[in-house]
Amino acid sequence: MPCRDLNIAGLLVKRGAMRWDDEAVTALDHALQCAARARAVGAADEVVLAALLHDVGHLITDVEESPLTHHGLWGARFLRPFVPAKVTWLVEHHVMAKRYLCTVDREYAKSLSLGSLRSWIRQGATLDPETRRELERQPWLPDVLAMRRWDDAAKEPRAPVPPLVAYRDLLESCFGRQTWETVSAVSNDLAASL
Ligand SMILES: [Fe+2]
Repeated sequence: MPCRDLNIAGLLVKRGAMRWDDEAVTALDHALQCAARARAVGAADEVVLAALLHDVGHLITDVEESPLTHHGLWGARFLRPFVPAKVTWLVEHHVMAKRYLCTVDREYAKSLSLGSLRSWIRQGATLDPETRRELERQPWLPDVLAMRRWDDAAKEPRAPVPPLVAYRDLLESCFGRQTWETVSAVSNDLAASL
């Protein structure tokens, strides 16, 4: 029986007003854009949920990024009691996916924002050959690489995307009933202040 009743929507809205690494969008905008990109290509629910929650680690800790302690690991640890194993794997490995893509694709590395490049260095930069081979044996690698590219693209200021409530069924199936009235009120306040 999974744990239930975590106000994840409230966390996304309240803590999601933050920005990091000098990015042009808030954490919530970024999450919504990433999830919208997943939905737009018909990704499975687990992948959409991972896209929406992939940076939740940033919302619960401000620990300095390193190869062994980064926001993907913290986010996966936080979500594990609530979500399917695939979701936690994708959240944890979206950091390594950037390291992988930078290792195998020079053009990809050139496409990253300055903030993303800085965090890539703190997270360990290029993968060593053994870690790379180990990652290439993982069955969910294609999903995490796709998610990584949505993640990188999900930084458009004021991009029109569905609101958080569009993921109501998905979130409530894992985290229990959410307080959408509060979420809407806080969202409206935030929108009015921008
Ligand atoms: Fe992200």
